[in-house]
Amino acid sequence: MAISPPAPDATMGQPRVGQPPPVAMTMTERQDPDRRAPPALNEPSTAPGRPAPRRAAPSRIGALLRGLVLRDRPLYVHFAVTSRCNLRCRSCVIWQRQTADEIDLPAIAELSRTLRRSGCVQVSLGGGEPALRADLPEIVATFLRAGLRTRVLTNGVAFTPELARALLDVGLREVSFSLDSLVREVQERRDGTTGSFERRIRNLVALAEMLPERGVLPLLNVVVTPGNLGELPELVALAADLGFWLSVIPIHLPPRRDSPNGGAPHPFYGEAPDLGFGGGGRDDLRQAFTELIRLKRRGAPVVNSTSFLRRSAEFLASGSALWPCRAGELFLSVGPDGMVAPCHAFEDRWEVPFSELPEALRSRAHRQEVKERVAGCEGCFRPCWAEVSFMVLEARSLLEMTRVQATARLRRRRVDSGEVLRRAGLAGETAR
Ligand SMILES: C[S@@+](CC[C@H](N)C(=O)[O-])C[C@H]1O[C@@H](n2cnc3c(N)ncnc32)[C@H](O)[C@@H]1O
Ligand code: SF4
Ligand code: SF4
Repeated sequence: MAISPPAPDATMGQPRVGQPPPVAMTMTERQDPDRRAPPALNEPSTAPGRPAPRRAAPSRIGALLRGLVLRDRPLYVHFAVTSRCNLRCRSCVIWQRQTADEIDLPAIAELSRTLRRSGCVQVSLGGGEPALRADLPEIVATFLRAGLRTRVLTNGVAFTPELARALLDVGLREVSFSLDSLVREVQERRDGTTGSFERRIRNLVALAEMLPERGVLPLLNVVVTPGNLGELPELVALAADLGFWLSVIPIHLPPRRDSPNGGAPHPFYGEAPDLGFGGGGRDDLRQAFTELIRLKRRGAPVVNSTSFLRRSAEFLASGSALWPCRAGELFLSVGPDGMVAPCHAFEDRWEVPFSELPEALRSRAHRQEVKERVAGCEGCFRPCWAEVSFMVLEARSLLEMTRVQATARLRRRRVDSGEVLRRAGLAGETAR
């Protein structure tokens, strides 16, 4: 999932009456170097959205600076609004669960206020596939009303122009659209679903054309696998033609049995060895990420920090990465049923109902337990988690992200739909 920089909020950091006091959590540095059946594609996706009151766009730089001060707060939260999905990706097992209860709108409103009071500034709405929730526009409006920057993550298949319109109408400005390849077979093989490629591309082009020219940060989420490693420069060019930013996600396959999930099946990553790099020295990985860093330096729309790109090759080659994980401190994961865990790997363990979150954040015992588990984790390398830590801890990453935000805000987006369809091999084909 892609980095959504901790979001700005003009009133953050000012405790209000009834608000829990700032949480003084201890930061942990990880220092041990050794740790380190085709579905229907036309499911219902939307309902008319109610406009959310527009807030004045708060200063992102101010929020990031406040992040430095508020480094003990869960600045970033991922909320899986559903575990239902319309794809059967081989890299992911979420679609196999499809069982979790989904909290309704009143509970989501309560969740949004609780997160806001706990110090959250940015929420990403993922899943499962969030486009399958008919009330997605209302959910987005709810988080925006609570003053949280809000991003929607989607595989795009059900992200129709009608849904995009409803989401933009309630004020959504941040979308992460997943697409791993411009080669139909590569994409649909990972999707475990036929017919997904063309729907993704057509909905992506429609979204690109509907987004405002300025002030948005749309991301193209690309999971890096052996199947698309050589395609990365082409995907950067695609992002440029869409007026999007590329966000790479190194593929993660299930971790060792000593993972924070205690040997239970991983709640997210699928077992598909052919999608992994298999370890050993991989010059092609180093070269591919060096090239991405070079393109970024030359102004290409790549959102990941240089730190993240550098360590991605290492992670893909070795299956582990050293980074100062701040799960449970700087970021949190909320399940469809409203249960809060430090990160996606802890789901079903060390989780609390969201109503008890403020208390858990204040509890020394809970924090200590989470801290020990995080310290023992061999590590994932999800950009949304890692980049939050980098931005708070590294001046360089903070500066890079600030530059991206400023560029996205000021530079006029240009969309070349014809070129995108040509790259995808769909030019001249009639939409089905
Ligand atoms: C779990 S999905 C949820 C949102 C939506 N269903 C989608 O696919 O965009 C979030 C992101 O995780 C990525 N992903 C799936 N399997 C992965 C894996 N094994 N390693 C890393 N990222 C993965 C997806 O491609 C997507 O960009
Ligand atoms: S990666 Fe996203 S689209 Fe694919 S199965 Fe998982 S939740 Fe669904
Ligand atoms: S976010 Fe941190 S604790 Fe969670 S799996 Fe990744 S490295 Fe481990």
